Amino acid sequence: MALHFSTPLTERLGCRLPVIQTAMGWVATSKLVKASTAAGAFGFLAAAVMSPEECEAEIEAIKSVGSAPFGVNVHSFQTGVDRIIDMCIDHEVGAISYGRAPSSKMIEKVKAKGIACVPTIGAAKHAKKAVELGADILVCQGAEGGGHTGATPTWLLLAQVLEMDLGVPVVACGGFKDGRGLAAALAYGADGTAMGTRFMMTSDSPTPEETKTAYLAADVTRIPVSVKLDGLPQRMVLNSKLESLEKASGPGLLVRGLINGMRFRKEMGVTLPDMLKSAWTMARKSDLTLGQTLMAANAPMIIQNAMVKGHPDDGVLPSGQVAGLINDLPSCADLLASIEVEASERLNAMQAKFPTAAE
Ligand SMILES: Cc1cc2nc3c(=O)[nH]c(=O)nc-3n(C[C@H](O)[C@H](O)[C@H](O)COP(=O)(O)O)c2cc1C
Repeated sequence: MALHFSTPLTERLGCRLPVIQTAMGWVATSKLVKASTAAGAFGFLAAAVMSPEECEAEIEAIKSVGSAPFGVNVHSFQTGVDRIIDMCIDHEVGAISYGRAPSSKMIEKVKAKGIACVPTIGAAKHAKKAVELGADILVCQGAEGGGHTGATPTWLLLAQVLEMDLGVPVVACGGFKDGRGLAAALAYGADGTAMGTRFMMTSDSPTPEETKTAYLAADVTRIPVSVKLDGLPQRMVLNSKLESLEKASGPGLLVRGLINGMRFRKEMGVTLPDMLKSAWTMARKSDLTLGQTLMAANAPMIIQNAMVKGHPDDGVLPSGQVAGLINDLPSCADLLASIEVEASERLNAMQAKFPTAAE
């Protein structure tokens, strides 16, 4: 018997299922968001890697196929963020998501228009602050999650945040792929699950086939966290590119940063002195070395080699550990239908197994 999965999350976001498709740079494009939202999830457009013009075209593409609610992911410090926020208001998007260092002005502005604020946090210490800043929903991403990630495992982070009882819906994130996980998260007290890697590994994501094949081959024990790409802990598939980055020392990173920079600067339209000057300025403002800063500046291009150009060995593959457990590329419609059925079966089975004790 299929259950009706109405939770405070679905009520606030207006989606049918308590499942969020998270933002993933160059992956959560209008194509994926259209498919995930049509299938009942709440999808976020990965606008943190888009210009305002690209973002507007993508929002219009999503709206052209229906009226399912969706959200937009931004970084407070990206170029053109104010225009993107105004666009979100004009287009009446359902929610914005964000991570590190959100701007309180941005949060106030969108909240005033009734747009839900959905930060992702990776450590319990950030949960209370995020709610004080205006979060309407908290996505708690545990260490097994993909891309930039924290150190606390998913279930432990979830326990910590649920125990704080902060008065907003809490969403479990990091390592989810199926209805079993959704049932477990709901039983634990969460209001839903959020998934990145599982949605990237669908036939609806724009990720090139060669790169999807590399994800399908990934082993759960070989998807480590590295700080070598941009100085922040980021979980990625251990391919030859990441192995060589991991081995690079301080001077080695500087050389690599320079070589990559020379290779990419034409695409970026910057001169060598400009590239070195901006890396030097960034290095002085942060805890990073010049080599790390140059690598960080090149990170988007290295990621795009795999995620856009389809050269998985010449780029890096941000990924949750769950990629090691995924062996298929279903459509979003099939994925969400199976999640709904499986979660219903698990919860029904639990009820049948443990009937109410006699008084
Ligand atoms: C390929 C990839 C790209 C990502 N890019 C972003 C991003 O641009 N912004 C963001 O906030 N999170 C990004 N993330 C993190 C995801 O939104 C999500 O929080 C994470 O993947 C959840 O863990 P899971 O993969 O185990 O489901 C990315 C993750 C992956 C796998």
